[in-house]
Amino acid sequence: MVDKEKIFAIGSDHAGYALKEVIKRKMSQSGYTVSDYGTHSEESMDYADAIHPLARDIHEGKVTAGIILCGTGNGVSMTANKYSGVRAALCWIPEIASLARAHNDANILAIPARFVGKEVALEMVNAFIDTDFQGGRHEKRVKKIPIPERM
Ligand code: RB5
Repeated sequence: MVDKEKIFAIGSDHAGYALKEVIKRKMSQSGYTVSDYGTHSEESMDYADAIHPLARDIHEGKVTAGIILCGTGNGVSMTANKYSGVRAALCWIPEIASLARAHNDANILAIPARFVGKEVALEMVNAFIDTDFQGGRHEKRVKKIPIPERM
């Protein structure tokens, strides 16, 4: 799904910081260009401050895809999904990460850092990166996600 030449965005709040660092290191070792939108320590901060710039860059097409983390994954995904063209999927097992790509054409993987371990998180990242959107009937459904015009 994601070309190694393309920039992969990563961002978290303090609760996701440690796991973000693990994922970032692993992805860089695997040859991906990872752009880190913060946060840069475990000091308490507001997830929206890291996620708005990341989601805006995906919305504007400057970045292909992203990974976002907070304690539950909810705050970061709610923030990211405010941007049209952003489809952030909250995932907790690799199968859901894979289906989020295959069926929903998700362009952001949202991880609940306080509820998944490193191994599962890295497996989810691999599943997300390795899975292509299936298109077909799912394409029609994904196209209906944006708020429709009133009839
Ligand atoms: C931080 O304590 C926590 O509220 C945050 O990481 C996240 O889970 C919010 O959705």
